[in-house]
Amino acid sequence: MLNARAETGDRDRIAAKSFRDVVRERYSARTYLPEPAPEAVIRSVLEDAQRAPSNANIQPWQVHIVSGEARDRVSRALLAAEAAGRMTPDYPFGYDELYGAYSERQVQQAEEYYRSIGVAREAKDDRRLALLRNLEFFGAPHACFLFMPSFYDGVRIAGDVGMYAQTFLLSLTAHGLQGCPQTLLGFFAGTIREELGIDPKLKMLFGISFGYPDTDSVGGRYRIGRAPIEENVVLHR
Ligand SMILES: Cc1cc2nc3c(=O)[nH]c(=O)nc-3n(C[C@H](O)[C@H](O)[C@H](O)COP(=O)(O)O)c2cc1C
Repeated sequence: MLNARAETGDRDRIAAKSFRDVVRERYSARTYLPEPAPEAVIRSVLEDAQRAPSNANIQPWQVHIVSGEARDRVSRALLAAEAAGRMTPDYPFGYDELYGAYSERQVQQAEEYYRSIGVAREAKDDRRLALLRNLEFFGAPHACFLFMPSFYDGVRIAGDVGMYAQTFLLSLTAHGLQGCPQTLLGFFAGTIREELGIDPKLKMLFGISFGYPDTDSVGGRYRIGRAPIEENVVLHR
């Protein structure tokens, strides 16, 4: 259980960063230092994330965070499930329907990431090992799993959970931490539910590994850009 005490000074440190800095410093970290974040810091992040907006303020996010032995146990279960080919996603997560710029960006992201960690396009085994790092939470000392109740097709609730996740991620950055959202963890929703005793009625959208980033190790400086806003936005007058 997380400790309710707030660490003095945290709030001052956060206030020193501008919104612009926080948004631009956030990235999906895939290399971490082993040191866990203090419980008070995690609790402060959770207090921020809890401020996320949601449809009719229903606040549908059901959040499970693993650290220490629980983290190691879940990671072992995920690797075992993967080795046994036991995928139990709650939603279809394929990329088959991507087209045009969406597909191009997805391919570009994969290529840039693998290049940053020195894995060649044709090195299938190395790519697989890199993919498995998802299930080791990229070495992060904490992982968060985002579950939600299931209403209709889930779209409305998924939007709310996305709001929660981004607030959580930005707060991590504001606290000097980073996280990596991971749909790959959602492929093992059933395993995670089983390990943590979660109600089968709750569905998992994705997970977030988090901790203090290790920017000095291989791939630690990998960052990806964005399309110009004209590709996504139309300003009507
Ligand atoms: C909902 C969601 C799921 C993601 N799933 C994964 C994942 O399974 N594995 C991974 O390495 N990165 C994953 N990412 C990270 C994206 O690749 C990353 O956000 C994108 O490339 C932009 O990079 P940035 O977050 O560093 O700015 C995910 C991101 C989001 C928002």
